[in-house]
Amino acid sequence: MLARAFFLSLVVNVGIMFGEPTPPIGTKLRDWKLPEVATQSEWSIAAKASNAKAVVVLFLGTECPVNNQYVPKLIELHKIYAKQGVAFFGINSNDHESESQLSEFVREKKLTFPLLRDVNAKVADRFQAKRTPEAFVLDGESIVRYRGRIDDQFERGVQRAFPTKNDLRDAIDAVMSGKEVQNSVTEVSGCPINRSQPRKTASTPSTVSYSTEVSRLIQAKCQSCHRAGEAAPFTLMNYRDAKAWSEAIRESVQEDRMPPWNADPLHGKFSNARNLSTEEKKLFLTWIDQGCPEGDPSHLPQPKQYVKGWRIGTPDQIISMREPIKIPSASPKGGYPYRYVLAGNPIQEDGWIQAIEARPDQRGVVHHILVYAIKPGVPFNPKNEESIVNAIHAGEGPDSDPLGDALLCSYVPGDLPSIFPDGFAKKLKKGSQLVFEMHYTPNGTEVLDQSRVGIIFSKKPVKHQLRGRSILNTEFLIPPLTSAHPVEARYRFKKDVVLLSFSPHMHLRGKSFQFLLTQPNQPNEILANVPKYDFNWQMTYELAKPRLIPKGSVITCKATFDNSAKNPHNPNPLALVGWGDQTWEEMMIGFVEYYDPNEEIKE
Ligand code: HEC
Repeated sequence: MLARAFFLSLVVNVGIMFGEPTPPIGTKLRDWKLPEVATQSEWSIAAKASNAKAVVVLFLGTECPVNNQYVPKLIELHKIYAKQGVAFFGINSNDHESESQLSEFVREKKLTFPLLRDVNAKVADRFQAKRTPEAFVLDGESIVRYRGRIDDQFERGVQRAFPTKNDLRDAIDAVMSGKEVQNSVTEVSGCPINRSQPRKTASTPSTVSYSTEVSRLIQAKCQSCHRAGEAAPFTLMNYRDAKAWSEAIRESVQEDRMPPWNADPLHGKFSNARNLSTEEKKLFLTWIDQGCPEGDPSHLPQPKQYVKGWRIGTPDQIISMREPIKIPSASPKGGYPYRYVLAGNPIQEDGWIQAIEARPDQRGVVHHILVYAIKPGVPFNPKNEESIVNAIHAGEGPDSDPLGDALLCSYVPGDLPSIFPDGFAKKLKKGSQLVFEMHYTPNGTEVLDQSRVGIIFSKKPVKHQLRGRSILNTEFLIPPLTSAHPVEARYRFKKDVVLLSFSPHMHLRGKSFQFLLTQPNQPNEILANVPKYDFNWQMTYELAKPRLIPKGSVITCKATFDNSAKNPHNPNPLALVGWGDQTWEEMMIGFVEYYDPNEEIKE
């Protein structure tokens, strides 16, 4: 008993060491009962604790991306610890989530432990739980021994290849063996729990409202992804949605994570830019600070009309991946690799592409798609993905750049497909073999994906052939433990060309990327600058105005790589890293799209 009293005072102190005292560490919770989502039967914590060695209480949501990435891991932990007498509960305290949403979540994620519904966040208040997914470990007497994250693998916007700290496991092990939990309080990433009462009651009268300003801003900057069937994990289509997610919106806007856009606004004007201006950010924050006033719904804008199905119109040809790919619910250790998946048959006849759209089958897991055409006659082994990648890079191209020329289109969440103006087209040669480069991010549910590409062929005479150029360096070696290793690549255009877009491509160690223009007798100019490259968003920056650059101009791509332990995405800071197509290897490619204004097109 004495030992326990001593131990108790210790835990309380550890809590206080973090600055704020963090109840309820070391406190005994009064009993509570909650209904289970699937069965509606009542669960009591005291009853569970009294015959368990430890109780794990998990505050969970159904739409929070970090939360969902952890679900397979929680099921795994439950499998291991249930056998050893540890009880697991999930609790949902989000005001906006419906019973049917919760049942669907339990079914879809194949949750093995009960999920309880906490109306009005009463139990969340008792735990002072703030986020999903937040874990608590209680001992057999319902005394709270641990609160915090599950481990450090996933955070908002960060996916490590594997965790370096297993806080929840360590806490459960300690409690089971009657030992002190070393780190009894850890910080949780994820989404704020949405309680029904406003976070703050507005002391100042509201100056902005959802109906007048915020709805319009969300329509313009968020709904391309945050609507049903699109890439984002929840919708932002009405007042209820916006209010429910307001605290998460505050964080994502303040931290510049949303809307995803990585180009520096100081260099280049891009037609697909979606970053928020300083005023727009301020508008969101003021609205949230004022308690998310709804305003008069009669001022709401007309809902935006979104095209269902193909955005390019009805394709002349739809080409699917040869076979569906099974995406596991969670990434294996080291991350889920890029997949290179062939289309069914080679292209049957020569054609000019007027519009092209890659359409993911399972938007929730498809992070991006690049569609390439392997040149006719290039040999490869269709059963070997490495051989397929090599084939993309092979063959005779104009000015021998098979890779740049092979890229037909890309899909990135929220971006529009390529519809070329009349007279402009990409060439597709008979006998080409299409390949889908698939970047999947497992999101907690196993799915089958068979993505497609739709093509509309040019019906009008083609004046300009659109081409790609990959400005790349394959010779680099990034030393271990370096935080800004520079790598350069350059290309001199031998003719006048008109530039249309830029896309940097690196992998997990990519840190920054710049496209620099050197013209004869002119100072250098930065065409596009990506100071914080994010591997998860493979963006193309499309120039608002196409840019003529004269013959002899050089484009230099300047990249830096972060191979230090500080880069959370880094799978191994001790590795010497060179070129390779897998995510734990690196690439350094600056794609540019252009046309030659003086080229004669022979149909
Ligand atoms: C290009 C697509 C896209 C656009 C545009 C977009 N989002 Fe997102 N959003 C996502 C995706 C995908 C996720 C899931 C997390 C991830 O994969 O990084 C997400 C997650 C979030 C999250 C929760 C997780 C976090 O990172 O905090 C919030 C909040 C959010 N978005 C708010 C917004 C707001 C507000 C806007 C508009 C101002 C917006 N988003 C625009 C795609 C988008």
